[in-house]
Amino acid sequence: MDFFGELYLRSTLPFLSEAVTAREAEYLARAFADTPDTGFIADLGCGHGRHASRLNVSGPLAHRIIGLEKDALSLSMRRRGFPVVRGDLRALPFGEGTLSGAYAWYSTLFAFSDEEHVTILRELARVMKRGGLLVFHTVPFERLAASPRAAFRRTLPDGGVLEEESQFDASTGRDEARRTLTLKDGRVLSASYAIRYYPLAELAGLLESTGFSITWVHGGLEGEPLTQLSADLIVGAVLRDG
Ligand SMILES: C[S@@+](CC[C@H](N)C(=O)[O-])C[C@H]1O[C@@H](n2cnc3c(N)ncnc32)[C@H](O)[C@@H]1O
Repeated sequence: MDFFGELYLRSTLPFLSEAVTAREAEYLARAFADTPDTGFIADLGCGHGRHASRLNVSGPLAHRIIGLEKDALSLSMRRRGFPVVRGDLRALPFGEGTLSGAYAWYSTLFAFSDEEHVTILRELARVMKRGGLLVFHTVPFERLAASPRAAFRRTLPDGGVLEEESQFDASTGRDEARRTLTLKDGRVLSASYAIRYYPLAELAGLLESTGFSITWVHGGLEGEPLTQLSADLIVGAVLRDG
């Protein structure tokens, strides 16, 4: 089965606190506050719309957000208050130079092959306006390298049992994981997934080669500098002029 969809939603939504989502949305509102109001800002892989629904309703980005999501179940569960288009990050359903910005949370841009990451960034360069801002969140490579093996087992509030094992390979930068959710009625949802974590210098090179230049790097939602201890890596990059 696919990792995204029922398995992801059932195993992730119980852990997403509204307080953290609110802080993430505030970070994004600040990041895009000065973006010219001439085109939509896309929430890439918006899921059920926890960021888009907040940002599009009030504040500096009101009426400027459009969600992009591939998974039908996530879309059917989406929160109110923002427009959405069903589509694939690898073939974006937007016209050339139409978006004034885009953002992606939770390593959404890096759950593919290295070749596909180039395709996605090139697609973003195609659909964004020159000078447009791309903001994305992931986890620092060093964090995975420091504890490459992880395993957990947890009982969810609905009685389901969630198990996951993952192994990070620093030589490929890929964290390979298997997640299994045994529902209370005995049904088992299980899928493998992999996320690519790039050392910052490699990430900068990837962005440069696809038309973007890094403007800032933060290690947390308050704009903290990235350090050895940072749990987050948040990058702001602009699409270069030519
Ligand atoms: C890690 S989740 C993040 C969801 C949401 N942005 C959040 O922070 O809660 C990644 C999202 O990207 C979507 N996704 C995965 N592959 C995609 C693709 N090829 N094109 C568009 N969306 C995709 C998944 O269905 C999922 O909703």
